[in-house]
Amino acid sequence: MTSVRSIVAGAGSYLPERIMTNDDLAKVVDTTDDWITERTGIKSRHIAAEGELTSDLALHAARAAIADAGIDVQEIDTIIMATTTPDNTFPATATTVQAALGLEHGAAFDVQAVCSGFVYALTIADTFIRAGQSKTALVIGAETFSRLLDWTDRTTCVLFGDGAGAMIVKAGEGEGTNADRGILTAHLHSDGRLKEKLYVDGGPSSTGTVGHVRMEGREVFRHAVVNIAEAITESLEATGLGVDDIDWFVPHQANKRILDSTAKRIGLPPEKVVMTVAEHGNTSAASVPLAFDAALRDGRIKRGDLVLLEAMGGGFTWGSLMLRY
Ligand code: ACO
Repeated sequence: MTSVRSIVAGAGSYLPERIMTNDDLAKVVDTTDDWITERTGIKSRHIAAEGELTSDLALHAARAAIADAGIDVQEIDTIIMATTTPDNTFPATATTVQAALGLEHGAAFDVQAVCSGFVYALTIADTFIRAGQSKTALVIGAETFSRLLDWTDRTTCVLFGDGAGAMIVKAGEGEGTNADRGILTAHLHSDGRLKEKLYVDGGPSSTGTVGHVRMEGREVFRHAVVNIAEAITESLEATGLGVDDIDWFVPHQANKRILDSTAKRIGLPPEKVVMTVAEHGNTSAASVPLAFDAALRDGRIKRGDLVLLEAMGGGFTWGSLMLRY
């Protein structure tokens, strides 16, 4: 039986020019390269230049994805942008990208699910496409997360970075089997009771300020490994596929130790895990498409490969998505 599939036709990404190493950070807060490397696997992160906005990063990534997919920009009928660091409280940063791309048709909106944002946005794009609402969607994860950091708090400021990644997702036809190209299954979750473990202590309705990231690191770590492994199991059960079928695991890049523990828990060999956390840090909603694009550029991910995405972030929110590229 034929079925509509949401096919990833291309991807792109962008990192700001400025690189901040752990040694650079050690000049700002009481930390060391050894501590950060050992606890997180992070060696450096990119930081947006003054005046460089989330929409600027998003636009670079979007243009790269459009070129990679080889589509006419006017084919795009939906822009879904995952971000926690919008240019303005409103309008949605996606509409700024829409205008910069010269688009006057279709819908553009932001999704807020913090680090899980891209998995949420891609799942929404898939749902739109399968419902006939969209034929060609631009899905972006973009963050200037450095602007949410308290640069005097060494427990958080060492973890994050800025960047953007994007995908073009097009409607296509499949046979309704796991051999189809496109998104095969997606599973989203949230649990708002755990808000206090990872949140920003400000906002338009509460303080009238942007606020800073606050986190109970150990608690986040503990929940992350369990939730991510469960979401991955859901994707495997829904498709009937096994861990051995997965060609590439592209997880949210929060922390090397979380990724190692997750891979071990589900029995995935380390060589199948795409890891960019050392050079990118945690770029929140941008991390999954940034890692995906890195593995595409260096030739690891090829047409027909089975790719498993997952993410977990503030809320808590988490989810997994399986696609055949
Ligand atoms: N440099 C040096 N020392 C530090 C730093 C730092 N940057 N940060 C904390 N410390 C100190 C603490 O003060 C503490 O000192 P004490 O023992 O004298 O009190 C000591 O290091 C240990 O602190 P812990 O918080 O217990 O360290 P832990 O081993 O848990 O590592 C970390 C902290 C890296 C944050 C870890 O808990 C973690 O990775 N958690 C997951 C958080 C995460 O990834 N969040 C991202 C967003 S959510 C997501 O994307 C999944």
